[in-house]
Amino acid sequence: MTVLGIDIGGTGIKGAPVDVEKGELLSERFRVLTPQPATVDDVAECVAQIVKHFSWKGRIGCGFPSAIKHGMIMTAANIDDSWIGVNAKTVFELHTGCKAHIINDADAAGWAEIHFGAGRGVQGVVICVTVGTGIGTAIFSNGVLLPNTELGHLMVRGKEAEHRASDRVRREKELSWKKWAKRFNEYLTYLEKLFWPDMIIIGGGLSKDFVKFASHLTIQAPVVAAEMLNEAGIIGAALSTLHPEV
Ligand code: BGC
Repeated sequence: MTVLGIDIGGTGIKGAPVDVEKGELLSERFRVLTPQPATVDDVAECVAQIVKHFSWKGRIGCGFPSAIKHGMIMTAANIDDSWIGVNAKTVFELHTGCKAHIINDADAAGWAEIHFGAGRGVQGVVICVTVGTGIGTAIFSNGVLLPNTELGHLMVRGKEAEHRASDRVRREKELSWKKWAKRFNEYLTYLEKLFWPDMIIIGGGLSKDFVKFASHLTIQAPVVAAEMLNEAGIIGAALSTLHPEV
């Protein structure tokens, strides 16, 4: 079964048709830049552009960087505030003519890792931390997702964690891997104290650079890189259409 997966991020919007049984992209992903400001109509137009690029007629699954309740956008940390209270499912269906399902972007990426990647078959509590423009989290207990955890907004040293330790902060402040890893490690230590996970999976753009910072992480739980790297968000968004309850 094939579903068009779309990952809407603070910087880029990317999509590809996904074989949801195998968890694989069926063609090269297509990416457009997230419009700034990321207003409702402009983002919806980008989603429509991706659908058009693949001449897509079937279902679409969209990962979105917000807490989502039944297709409704509840928060707006890295997109325009005008999204709050908007039903993204309705908007995307109107713009694309395709049946859409919306899920938090980090939940989508986590789902892909749990089903097909680094968290496959892992029992107990697994936290997937997606590090990009913001920090997103997905918590699984024996493979079951607790949706919309939003732990990138935990306060560390009086600041939201994603304002201290996201990949955007690393780039903007030109932090060395060591300096950034110190901040990130502090955040993971806090997460560990609160949730006592059995494994932490690091996803998002910088998962490919895992070896550059892994040696600076000192928490007790095993920390591993996402296996599906940056494709997890697209694959998980497609996969989520099979689980419309989330
Ligand atoms: C948002 C989350 C999102 C994360 C990663 C945060 O700012 O609040 O919903 O998962 O960024 O994109």
